[in-house]
Amino acid sequence: MIYGHIQHQQVNQYLPEVILQALEFLNNQSLSELEDGRHDINGNLMFANVMTFDTVLSETKQAEVHKDYIDVQCLISGEETIQYCIESSNNQASTDYDQENDFFLVRNIENANQVTLQPNMFAVFFPGEPHKPGCTQQMPRTIKKVVIKVRKDLLKL
Ligand code: CU
Repeated sequence: MIYGHIQHQQVNQYLPEVILQALEFLNNQSLSELEDGRHDINGNLMFANVMTFDTVLSETKQAEVHKDYIDVQCLISGEETIQYCIESSNNQASTDYDQENDFFLVRNIENANQVTLQPNMFAVFFPGEPHKPGCTQQMPRTIKKVVIKVRKDLLKL
């Protein structure tokens, strides 16, 4: 897990090139005007999913894990808490792996940490890292966010 602010170039310069490409896409958009749905950046290698929904209490949802794609999750408006934890064999899968959508769920995440995003902050989750986005600290609120899916092979090149 890595997190930061999309405009903090002095720190972001140390990120891998492919993550910088994702941040460049975000910085070149008027994020508040970006429509919900998928936006291609580099075909199936890198694309953005924009969504608007209400946050929920973390106890009411399960964490997700990906195998093939890195998530670059950026909040556009509202406030979002994301729980996450270190990959562990104690985090038992509660669903089968959905290959088409590249995820499975885990019910209990051990020693959960959390990060709270304000608009224009991002968090990166690598394949295998359980994360539970879309959570609220107190009251549910409507958020708009974008998740850039980055094929893991791009990071290894
Ligand atoms: Cu994810």
